[in-house]
Amino acid sequence: MSKTYEKLLKSLEDIREKLHFTPEIAVVLGSGLGGFAGEIEVESILPYSEIEGFPTSTAPGHEGRFIFGKIAEKKVVAMQGRIHYYEGYDIEDVVLPIRIMRHLGAEKLILTNAAGGINITYSPGEFMLISDHISMVVSPLIGKNLDSIGTRFPSMHDIYDRELRKIVLQTASEIGIHLREGVYIQTTGPQYETPAEIRMFRTLGADAVGMSTAVEAIAAVHSGFKVVGISCISNMACGVSPNPPSEEEVLEIAKLSGAKFSKLLKAVISVL
Ligand code: HPA
Repeated sequence: MSKTYEKLLKSLEDIREKLHFTPEIAVVLGSGLGGFAGEIEVESILPYSEIEGFPTSTAPGHEGRFIFGKIAEKKVVAMQGRIHYYEGYDIEDVVLPIRIMRHLGAEKLILTNAAGGINITYSPGEFMLISDHISMVVSPLIGKNLDSIGTRFPSMHDIYDRELRKIVLQTASEIGIHLREGVYIQTTGPQYETPAEIRMFRTLGADAVGMSTAVEAIAAVHSGFKVVGISCISNMACGVSPNPPSEEEVLEIAKLSGAKFSKLLKAVISVL
């Protein structure tokens, strides 16, 4: 058995000893967006530090725990804080929580993040439904394939599920929230990009940039999740506006957008 799979089983066994919960929907809450956890009728909270073999989240604005509970009668597991590659973990550890949530029974995954706007028509505080991505990070599927999880060469054709995207767009329009739709590009970080890199990313077709999400979506689709992704444009990317991006701005704008974001996410979960 591969080390990755052994680790997965160990963490799963430990979680199952601590609680009995079968989620339908999994949610990853991005930087500054963890406030959404307040919407959950909580059944259990499990800090990552209490799970055997689990990486802990060290990024600012990330609590580092699973929240299990209900939203609109749907059973959800939310990650309040994700694991980033820039924290120094191996890529299979970065996506371990995604595989765990799938093994716990969740079938749909909502990935959220704070991202820098590359598309010059975007503004901070807007939301972008991710239509597709470009990953500048090592694949999380490198190594011996975990056949019991997914196939060796999974298709990325509709990595952000077409049907779920339609539902999100329609729900947003019904509750009066304007959603952009665009391509997300993931870098490793942790440094923000240079203006030249942002110009290159725009030429490549990217609309927003961040340091997470794409590798999670790849592992999620590999393991059979249906995935949607929503970015909160927390700042304009480097060189797009006169002010260079800062961690303070990212967290502040994401937090300010929190109420609108929670409204959207709650409405989406209720119809998924
Ligand atoms: N670049 C990379 N990651 C980010 C940004 C950015 O401008 N904003 C939020 N996450």
